[in-house]
Amino acid sequence: MSSIAMPPLSRAIHFYEAPIGKKAVMAATGIVLFGYVVGHLLGNLQIYSSNPDQINRYAAFLHNPLNAVALWGVRAVLLLCVGLHIVAATQLWLQNRAARPIGYCKKDDLPTSYAARTMIWSGPIIGAFVVFHVLHLTVGSVTTLAPDLAANAPNVRANVINGFHDYPAIAAFYILAMLLLCLHLYHGVWSMFQSAGVSHPRYTPWLKRLAAICALAIAIGNISIPVAALAGWLK
Ligand code: HEM
Repeated sequence: MSSIAMPPLSRAIHFYEAPIGKKAVMAATGIVLFGYVVGHLLGNLQIYSSNPDQINRYAAFLHNPLNAVALWGVRAVLLLCVGLHIVAATQLWLQNRAARPIGYCKKDDLPTSYAARTMIWSGPIIGAFVVFHVLHLTVGSVTTLAPDLAANAPNVRANVINGFHDYPAIAAFYILAMLLLCLHLYHGVWSMFQSAGVSHPRYTPWLKRLAAICALAIAIGNISIPVAALAGWLK
């Protein structure tokens, strides 16, 4: 049966079974996760506001029970995207390995970049970082969090500053994870353009530059926070 004559669900499954289908799922979920990382960074940069209460007001707004449905909706979408991203990445990796069982003798000859080759382990390390990070700054099971300012109003400012200033090893782990996230985003953004067919000898260098600028801006913004806390610049 040609794929055009198939019912929509079978067509979707048929599309997903091909590498391009999995790449499309990775690109679509990657865009959502990228959007979260950018939004989260913009929220966190409020720690530099001249008003020291600013970031805590923002956290209280997010934790307001009136916003609970929206908050849990966003969390559910993010979890779904993380799950689909991991499943598609693993299946693609297994498919590629099965197609090339002997492997290359000389890895240096591969036309892939360092970022591309490290995707398969930078991804799991970033996943492990996110689990650690939620336990650290949301659940509070890694270090003791500051008492809440009121019901549903965590003292995020104190948690972030103390969580890095008093624990340099944790700050170092965050910095390392952000460097890996930078590599992962660089290759991820660039691959997304390729999967979407946005690739042309004239534009490719510019698209790579755009991917590098996005990844570096996110890494610098995130890394600045543990560095500023360690240096005692944030009070
Ligand atoms: C130095 C960089 C970062 C800082 C200072 C930071 C800070 C925080 C803080 C304070 C919270 C708790 C917020 C609250 O309870 O209201 C939080 C939650 C969270 N962060 Fe980060 N974050 C950083 C980087 C990241 C990155 C790179 C990711 C993803 C790759 C991430 C993913 C999350 C997630 C998933 C949560 C849980 C959100 C929820 O409870 O719904 N964070 N972060």
